[in-house]
Amino acid sequence: MSSPSLSGASEPPDPNLGPVLIDANELQARVTELGRQITDDYAGRAPLLVGVLKGAFMFMSDLARAVRLPVEFDFMAVASYGSSTKASGVVRIVKDLDLDLSGRHVLLVEDIVDSGLTLSYLRRNLLARGPASLEVCALLVKEGIQEREPDFRYVGFRIPPTFVIGYGLDIAERYRNLPYICAWAG
Ligand code: IMP
Repeated sequence: MSSPSLSGASEPPDPNLGPVLIDANELQARVTELGRQITDDYAGRAPLLVGVLKGAFMFMSDLARAVRLPVEFDFMAVASYGSSTKASGVVRIVKDLDLDLSGRHVLLVEDIVDSGLTLSYLRRNLLARGPASLEVCALLVKEGIQEREPDFRYVGFRIPPTFVIGYGLDIAERYRNLPYICAWAG
């Protein structure tokens, strides 16, 4: 664990940043592995990557570059009702997909699974649109929180149930541009 800074040694330390849980090298190495696995599993097909905004934008962009297949992209944005650090499980679609999912091999790309309520809502919603297949790739899964083991094919890292920021993940829209994942200490 190293002590994080926002943009360089000349910056004063940000007291809101806790320990680094996953550094930039570990992120890139794991994303490359996931990309290889997806490339093998979907050989001969053109999967449709569905990113969940905003948190998954950075992961999705790196993951897509690690997949050696003719992928297509779509995005949806959801908002979950709740406090800034706790989801309520009631999900509202803020931006819906542009593409039709029927007959497509859909890979849902999620930033983080906390309670798992957002993911189970999205799964039901996307399955109702008649894809040929639906799998989930989540960068982070918090351990010991979900009531049932969430149904996903690809997981980047399992982390302790603490609030984290960086690499797309925010608190009040800030810190998404950190190139690593660290605990929120604020
Ligand atoms: P869930 O429905 O409880 O699984 O929450 C999932 C959503 O809540 C994620 O897609 C994130 O947008 C947000 N979220 C949950 N935990 C964190 C965290 O530790 N940092 C940043 N966002 C989080």
